[in-house]
Amino acid sequence: MKSAEKLIIIVCFLFRGVLCREFSISLPQSVEALRGLCVLIPCSFEIKEEYDADLKTDLTGIWNKDDAYKNKVFNSNVTKENKIEGEIIGDLHMKNCTTIFYNISERDSGEYYFRIETSGRLKETYKSSSVDIRVRDSPISPSITLYKEDQGKVEDQNEVVEGTSVSLICSAPAPPCLLKPPTFTWNFLPEERRQEQNHNTSFSSSQLNFSATHLHHGVDFTCTATYQLQNKNKSAQSSFRLHVLYAPRNTSVSASPSASVLLGSSVSLNCSSDANPAVLNYTWYRENGGQIGTGNHLTINTTDSTQSGLYYCRAQNQLGDQNSSVYLDVQREYSAGVLLVLSHTATWI
Ligand SMILES: *[C@@H]1O[C@H](CO)[C@@H](O)[C@H](O)[C@H]1NC(C)=O
Ligand SMILES: *[C@@H]1O[C@H](CO)[C@@H](O)[C@H](O)[C@H]1NC(C)=O
Ligand SMILES: *[C@@H]1O[C@H](CO)[C@@H](O)[C@H](O)[C@H]1NC(C)=O
Ligand SMILES: *[C@@H]1O[C@H](CO)[C@@H](O)[C@H](O)[C@H]1NC(C)=O
Ligand SMILES: *[C@@H]1O[C@H](CO)[C@@H](O)[C@H](O)[C@H]1NC(C)=O
Ligand SMILES: *[C@@H]1O[C@H](CO)[C@@H](O)[C@H](O)[C@H]1NC(C)=O
Ligand SMILES: *[C@@H]1O[C@H](CO)[C@@H](O)[C@H](O)[C@H]1NC(C)=O
Ligand SMILES: *[C@@H]1O[C@H](CO)[C@@H](O)[C@H](O)[C@H]1NC(C)=O
Ligand SMILES: *[C@@H]1O[C@H](CO)[C@@H](O)[C@H](O)[C@H]1NC(C)=O
Ligand SMILES: *[C@@H]1O[C@H](CO)[C@@H](O)[C@H](O)[C@H]1NC(C)=O
Ligand SMILES: *[C@@H]1O[C@H](CO)[C@@H](O)[C@H](O)[C@H]1NC(C)=O
Repeated sequence: MKSAEKLIIIVCFLFRGVLCREFSISLPQSVEALRGLCVLIPCSFEIKEEYDADLKTDLTGIWNKDDAYKNKVFNSNVTKENKIEGEIIGDLHMKNCTTIFYNISERDSGEYYFRIETSGRLKETYKSSSVDIRVRDSPISPSITLYKEDQGKVEDQNEVVEGTSVSLICSAPAPPCLLKPPTFTWNFLPEERRQEQNHNTSFSSSQLNFSATHLHHGVDFTCTATYQLQNKNKSAQSSFRLHVLYAPRNTSVSASPSASVLLGSSVSLNCSSDANPAVLNYTWYRENGGQIGTGNHLTINTTDSTQSGLYYCRAQNQLGDQNSSVYLDVQREYSAGVLLVLSHTATWI
């Protein structure tokens, strides 16, 4: 080393770079971009002090890809013709070259070199360091997770018992290049619910709290995350089908041909019920008696008018039961009611 150089180094050491600034740039080694979204590159640069005045002139920030001097992909002084959409959000006059690139695709992966150009003498390419933009393979998509009251996170299972308090959480990546966190919309909102949105530095989420009812059984909850980008909105969605287990409901008994029958004829009682899982067993009871049958059908051959009265059907599954009844009216032939019906019919003939 020549003694003159030694002297300069010593002088620079003494004056802590105030007089001896060199061209240098501060960039992260690599940044991760989400495909189709954006990427933020924190960036600041330094120049030799002799060019300080040029910082007050028109400044252009340029990014070259994979080669420090060729392959210009972005120029802040032109809006069109750039190979990559972007924006220098830092103030170049303050030596801040922080940049956002939008609509990143796989082919944008690579090493990026910064260059500053002024309308003065200052024109410098920072070839000593570059930033490696890595484009994440998977496209952005929200994920929906179900949390059940007192049961914590439920793995690969969409089932919940009616009446349970549940939370559906839709979470989507929210990288720092976004000017605003994504907004969430649900295709279906339970009537009674509590909803909140949360954000942290890498994720945003929408939480839907409600009490599961049979009305939510089989519903596809679709959550859409909408990203507001530079000049367009981009959305991604995913769905979650909830399975709600519930005790029998809407249990009803029908009589065929009718609940009013003539003595000697037979009547078929049919019991139906809505349950999840499906009704395990149906049992039949008389008003003040024991069990008279099982299965969703009961055929009664009327032999006696004491067979008149309430017939109950009880539908059961693992979660509970529900009863329904029908009043069976066994009428003697030519009883007043039937005669009345016959006479009415007669008058119409
Ligand atoms: C930016 O572009 C304008 C018009 O195209 C040009 O006049 C100006 O000199 C450019 N600025 C720099 C710093 O190159
Ligand atoms: C550069 O500019 C960005 C965007 O305005 C800002 O967030 C960042 O703090 C600035 N960096 C420095 C070192 O001032
Ligand atoms: C985003 O990039 C894709 C592929 O690179 C391109 O087809 C599409 O037109 C771009 N979208 C916008 C709004 O520039
Ligand atoms: C939703 O439920 C979770 C877990 O029970 C709770 O931490 C959260 O505060 C609830 N949010 C709202 C808006 O009720
Ligand atoms: C942000 O939230 C997500 C899920 O809500 C969590 O996995 C992640 O660790 C959080 N990140 C930070 C930086 O807090
Ligand atoms: C993007 O969505 C926001 C909010 O939903 C809306 O205000 C804005 O107009 C949309 N922008 C475009 C370009 O569609
Ligand atoms: C249950 O009953 C309600 C009202 O009575 C009716 O609207 C609904 O369609 C019934 N559901 C089934 C599955 O029968
Ligand atoms: C019994 O009820 C079910 C459901 O309503 C119906 O599908 C079936 O046909 C009925 N059976 C008879 C014999 O009425
Ligand atoms: C019907 O199912 C319930 C619930 O599993 C069970 O407790 C009951 O013993 C069953 N009844 C008959 C008659 O099989
Ligand atoms: C009712 O009568 C039919 C024939 O009419 C017979 O097949 C059936 O077994 C009888 N059912 C009962 C419960 O007695
Ligand atoms: C249905 O009827 C059975 C028999 O009478 C009774 O044990 C049960 O408690 C009833 N179920 C309901 C839900 O009322």
